Amino acid sequence: MYAQMVKTAGTGVKKPKDMTAEEKAFQAKIDRNEKIEPKDWMPDDYRATLIRQIGQHAHSEIVGQLPEGNWLTRAPTLERKAILLAKVQDEAGHGLYLYSACETLGVSRDELTEMLLNGKMKYSSIFNYPTLNWADMGAVGWLVDGAAIMNQVPLQRTSYGPYSRAMVRICKEESFHQRQGYAIMMKMAAGTADQKRMAQDALDRLWFPSLMMFGPSNKESVHSEQSMAWRIKINTNDELRQKFVDQTVPQIEFLGLTCPDKDIKWNEEKGGYDYTDPDWSEFFAVLKGNGPCNKDRLAARNAAWKNGAWVRDAMLAHARKKAARKAVAA
Ligand code: 3HC
Repeated sequence: MYAQMVKTAGTGVKKPKDMTAEEKAFQAKIDRNEKIEPKDWMPDDYRATLIRQIGQHAHSEIVGQLPEGNWLTRAPTLERKAILLAKVQDEAGHGLYLYSACETLGVSRDELTEMLLNGKMKYSSIFNYPTLNWADMGAVGWLVDGAAIMNQVPLQRTSYGPYSRAMVRICKEESFHQRQGYAIMMKMAAGTADQKRMAQDALDRLWFPSLMMFGPSNKESVHSEQSMAWRIKINTNDELRQKFVDQTVPQIEFLGLTCPDKDIKWNEEKGGYDYTDPDWSEFFAVLKGNGPCNKDRLAARNAAWKNGAWVRDAMLAHARKKAARKAVAA
């Protein structure tokens, strides 16, 4: 099974007749579009689903720094380096807001980190693909952050207060990330023949993995039904994937590049593109730990945690000393 055993998986949505009075009142609050706050009563499965989703999201922001961090020292100009550095720092900030939102549900950041490091919790599949050249910085910003925004803008209206508020700031910053990526692509696509080839190559490698970011097809998505009933998710995976394709194909055309999906075709009747699904067997293999960079990514995070132990110890010792001094003074 590729999904964590959070209880909602595959069990269907509870019918009102099977709900307790507390559960009915909770669902009514969600249906009235009211926010759920940390001290409010919530079903255990709602809490577990949020911890799973927000935790995975936080891990994605942190692991997502690795493919781009790889290019900070090799950015072609000082300006590009400063912009990329700001973006990578933003991702660290996003991780922090999301870990904080998750902590309001009663799980500590250390516990979440441990579950990432021992492979019990996931992070986005996309970060298990390598970034091979500078054009990939353009394609990552444009496609990966572009897909992330498509998914995260609706999450500003998610039912859990701390998560929805964290998403407001994150979305503003992701929008800058998407533009910086597209700006790199515009420059490269309008550059020399070699630069244009690099831009096309980056698009070719990252197109289908970007489509995978939205999760499996609706029929394979085990959590969507319950998560949508609880307004943890606002849209289905396929709805968001379609919107992303519809938004991105004209951007590819504007760059003068070719869509890697040879069968892409505008469908007048549905008002969107017909597109080829990614190879789902590859997606599930990546989720199981068998993508091109899974082992490297986890090794890098494990090393960062181990090498940072003395910093955490020093900060805790400093906080203890400060508290003791304050107590004496009082
Ligand atoms: N990568 C890794 N795992 C994925 C995945 C992906 N792209 N898509 C789905 N999965 C996993 C799910 O987590 C679930 O496994 P689990 O039970 O072990 O958690 C399983 O596949 C089944 O999928 P479902 O569709 O049933 O799962 P969800 O209802 O949780 O939907 C989701 C998946 C759409 C990714 C949803 O969790 C979501 O909207 N998450 C919040 C957004 C997020 O995490 N974004 C990360 C993007 S990267 C990013 O933001 C960094 C930025 O800098 C670019």
